[in-house]
Amino acid sequence: MNGAASQVESVLDPAGPVAQALANLSWLLIGGATLIFVAMMALLAWTLLRRARSDDRDARGVRSNAWWLIGGGVVFPVVVLTALLTHESLRIDGLTRPHGADELVISVSGRLWWWEVRYRLPDGRTDVVLANEIQLPVGRPVTIGLSSQDVIHSLWIPALAGKVDLIPGKVNQLRLQADRAGSYRGQCAEFCGEQHARMALFAIATPPEEFDRWLAQQAAPAQPPADPQTTRGLQIYVEQRCYQCHQLRGLDLPGGLNVAPDLTHLASRSHLAAGTMPINPETLAAWIADPQQIKPGTRMPSYRHLDEASLQALAAFLAQLK
Ligand code: CUA
Repeated sequence: MNGAASQVESVLDPAGPVAQALANLSWLLIGGATLIFVAMMALLAWTLLRRARSDDRDARGVRSNAWWLIGGGVVFPVVVLTALLTHESLRIDGLTRPHGADELVISVSGRLWWWEVRYRLPDGRTDVVLANEIQLPVGRPVTIGLSSQDVIHSLWIPALAGKVDLIPGKVNQLRLQADRAGSYRGQCAEFCGEQHARMALFAIATPPEEFDRWLAQQAAPAQPPADPQTTRGLQIYVEQRCYQCHQLRGLDLPGGLNVAPDLTHLASRSHLAAGTMPINPETLAAWIADPQQIKPGTRMPSYRHLDEASLQALAAFLAQLK
């Protein structure tokens, strides 16, 4: 992973062509609105001054006021808004056109309150599944298929693209491209319940070779435990039946519902609980012990009944799943 993590989400700091077009539009609107505002205020000042100086109630004054009203109230907005509409209709067409054959397709599914991110591997059978992190190769067009398993969410990564809703029973498409390596924070932009604010994710753009290495590493099965503590951790994972909700590929565990984040390479990700905190043994132990304290309402139950040694062992096992 290279490039500093961009924690500030700004439309005015674009890292790809789609975001660039939106930034240009933002500047055009800000500039245009400022210009019109200043012109209107000047006009208002001029009118007030004129009124103060002379009695404006003669017939000529009324006629000239009517022209100002028609010109400023009807003709001017029609001309400005038509020009903007035409300009944007032409631009939008270029942004939503399908990419060529080299595009990368990623599926993102919204959950209460996290993001499932899925890559179909070339073999067509294996899916690399991760949570709250979208990895992208720099310079390659990407289409993201967006869907939801529960309520309406909205994906917004301001440095890369505009908002697109994730709607149950529907697949929306978001086309984007990252032209600059880095980590870009994104956020759910549609109110979806009590933890809407803690539904963040990171889009991480890396050079294509690095991305290919990353994908190959993610496709590999999970790292088996290598010492007594992590072995004990896996044992607790099985005893507590974590597999009923989470998937952990390659460790020969019983299958479950897959309703929670995939843990196969959990520790390769930067954040836990949808951008809530960094991933390390301490935060993992705190999260498992009492997720309801950290993110009230989250679907993950608390495991306060685990003794400290078991908790540490489980956290150590999860922290080695690179
Ligand atoms: Cu998901 Cu707001």
